[in-house]
Amino acid sequence: MAPTILVEQQDGLLTLTLNRPDKRNALDTGMYQALTAALQQASQDESVHVVLLQGQATCFTAGNDLADFMGKTTLEADDPILQFLHAFADFPKPVIAAVAGPAVGIGTTLLLHCDLVYLADNARLQLPFVELGLVPEFASSLLLPRAIGHLKASELLLLAEVMDASEALRLGLANRVVAADELLGLARETGLRLAAKPPKALQKSKALLKQELRQAVHFVIDMEARAFSQALQGEEAQSRIARKLGRRD
Ligand code: COA
Repeated sequence: MAPTILVEQQDGLLTLTLNRPDKRNALDTGMYQALTAALQQASQDESVHVVLLQGQATCFTAGNDLADFMGKTTLEADDPILQFLHAFADFPKPVIAAVAGPAVGIGTTLLLHCDLVYLADNARLQLPFVELGLVPEFASSLLLPRAIGHLKASELLLLAEVMDASEALRLGLANRVVAADELLGLARETGLRLAAKPPKALQKSKALLKQELRQAVHFVIDMEARAFSQALQGEEAQSRIARKLGRRD
C-alpha cells in the first residue's frame, strides 16, 4: 500500500504530500504520526530549509478522520493529534501550504500557522466544528479572529460557512490564488526560491514574526483541546458525527 504521507526532498525543499485521496486525505492517526516525525526530523536536518505541505490538485484534506473521532473520548498530551499541533506550531523553518479543493477543519486551521499559503481557484475552506458538536482547535479561536476579525471568524467558526478562494485571498488568509493545474508548480517554484535564501536568516526572521503569539498559541492549543475532549464525549458530537458517518456509509 502506498504511504499516506509522501516525503520528498530537493535542494533544501522538503515536500510533504497528503496521499490518501480515496478518503479525501482525511487525517488518521498514522498520518499525524508520520507528519510529526517528518517535522521533527526536518527541524534537526540542516539540509532542509523550507517545508511545502500539499495534497493533490483536487483535494487538500477533508480534515480529521471522522471514524477516528468516534473512537476517541479525550485528547491527552501524548495523543498523536496534539503532538502534531504543537510540532507544527513550533516548526522553526518556513512552511508553505498549497491548497486545492476541500480544506476542512484542520485543513483550514493549519493554514493559520503557515508562512505562505497558495490556493487553487477550486479551494474551499470550511470549519464545521460546531456543526459536528465540536469546538475550534489548533489555536484557531485565537488566530482566526486576529487574522480576519471577530465577525468574519464567526461566519466560519459558528455558522460554518464555506469560504471560497477569492474570499480567502481578500481576507488575507492566502498569498495568491491560481488555476488548480498551476498550484503545485507555483508552490514548488516558490519553495525552491525560498530554500535558496540564507537559512539562518530565514529561521530567525520566522521566529521574530511568530514571537509575539508563540506562548499564547501553545496555551490556547491545550485549552481548546480540553474543551474539544469534553465536546467529543457529549451527546451533541457523538450523535452528529455518527449521523455524518452513517450518511457516508
Ligand atoms: N473522515 C473519514 N472519511 C472521510 C472524510 C473524513 N473527514 N471525508 C471524506 N471521507 C471519505 C468518505 O467517507 C468517502 O469514503 P468511501 O468512498 O469509502 O465512502 C470518501 O472519503 C469520499 O468522500 P465524499 O464525501 O464522497 O467526497 P466528496 O468529494 O463528494 O466530498 C468533502 C469531499 C471533503 C466535501 C466531504 O467528504 C466531507 O464533507 N467530508 C467530511 C469533512 C468533515 O466533516 N471533516 C471533519 C472536520 S472537523
